[in-house]
Formats: sequence, structure tokens, C-alpha cells
Amino acid sequence: MAVVAGNWKMHMGPAETEAFFREFGVPGAGGGHEYVVFPPALSLARAVASLPAGSPVRLGVQNVHWEESGAFTGEISVSMAREAGATFVLVGHSERRHVFGETDDEVARKVRAVQDHGLTPVVCVGETLDERRAGRVDEVILRQLDAALAGLGDDPGRFMVAYEPVWAIGTGETATPDDAQAAHGTLRERLAAQLGPERARGVPILYGGSVKPSNAGELTARDDVDGVLVGGASLDPVSFAAIAAACR
Ligand code: PGA
Repeated sequence: MAVVAGNWKMHMGPAETEAFFREFGVPGAGGGHEYVVFPPALSLARAVASLPAGSPVRLGVQNVHWEESGAFTGEISVSMAREAGATFVLVGHSERRHVFGETDDEVARKVRAVQDHGLTPVVCVGETLDERRAGRVDEVILRQLDAALAGLGDDPGRFMVAYEPVWAIGTGETATPDDAQAAHGTLRERLAAQLGPERARGVPILYGGSVKPSNAGELTARDDVDGVLVGGASLDPVSFAAIAAACR
């Protein structure tokens, strides 16, 4: 059993969203997994309306602002996302960090706001290729995790972490299962130091970066890889279902 999550990024308007769920149906072969799909916020209402009865798929948004409301043109708040049907929020995706300049401090504020409203944050961390070549993987991902944990405070509710090496996102390059396990193990150790080993074991750590049907099985076979966060290959219901079927 794994967490199988799809990040649609800026793809899939309402009509395409409806067509996706009509075809994806209620997963059978991949049963037992926890499914989360992150459509664009404008497609969320259609996603809610299109989920077939009995679907285990939960929905989320890809970004939020930490304020409740106000003069923040273009932003959406957590309570709006919740009202529209989101139960999960991606926070600190590498495209937010590297394309839109989101900082660790902003990630911490967003994580706090998401938890305050009872939604589940999925905190994304990951190093760039230069950082990996410089041997800085652990330093970078632990700094990002620590900042998010600071936002969660002393008694964090449910949250997930996604390890997404920036050099593997949308490039066709996937971390090897060994690379993924090494980073996930590092993250798990830090979670254990902060929350205690038992609670740390209950925090799903997902791998993301060019996940496809052919590599999802070997990745999720590793001890600390509890699921996948899929970009490109989640846009097609057939490949998303094949990934779910491959996940252990
Ligand atoms: P990808 O994206 O699967 O297309 O590499 C993953 C992500 O950015 O979440």
C-alpha cells in the first residue's frame, strides 16, 4: 500500500479533468493505495463533481496563500480551497521555489495555515543538480524540512513529505532506488529526531521526479519510499493507473 499522488501542474482544464476521472474510474488493481490528485484550482470543482461514487481519490490544490483573505491578487486561501473540496495542499514544490522564488519562510507559513484549517500539507523538498554535484543533498533537504517543521510547530497533525530532486523533475532522469532511499532515510532520521521514531514512521515520504509505470515498483519497494508524486505521467489516466498497479 502506497500513496499515489498526481500533480497536474498547469495542465487539465475543467473539461479535461472531467474526461480524466470518467476514464480513471474507481481503481481496482491498485486498490488499497491512498490516491491524491492535485488539479489546477480552477478545475477542482469539476474534479469533485466528476469523481465516481466510491472513488478513493482525494483532491488537493498545488499552492495557497497563508493569509485568510485580503488584497493578494491572484492568490487563493486555504479555506477557499477547503470549501471547494481540497483536503490536501502541495507546499514548496520546486517550481514554486525556483520559478516563483518561494522561500523556506513562506513554506513554513503556508504549512502552518494549511494545518490550522485541518488540511494535509505535502511538503516538497529537493536539491538542484549543482547542489547534488557539490555533495550538498542532505544539507539542502534537511534545511527545507526543518523550515517546514518549524511551521508545523510542536504538535504537528498529519502531513506528508515529498522528496523531489529538481534535476529529475520533468527531465526523464529518475533518481536510482538507492539515491531515493538514501535521501528518504535522511529525512526519516530527522523526522524521528524531531517527532520520535513512532510518529516519524507514520509520516509518508513520497518520491517524485519522472516516475513512470516502469520505475514506480522498484522505487516503492524501498523501505522509506512510501509512495510517489507523479507529474507528467499522471495526466494520462492509463499511465496513472499503471503506476498505481506497480506501486508496492
Ligand atoms: P514529473 O514531475 O513526474 O513530470 O517529473 C513531478 C513533480 O514535479 O511533482
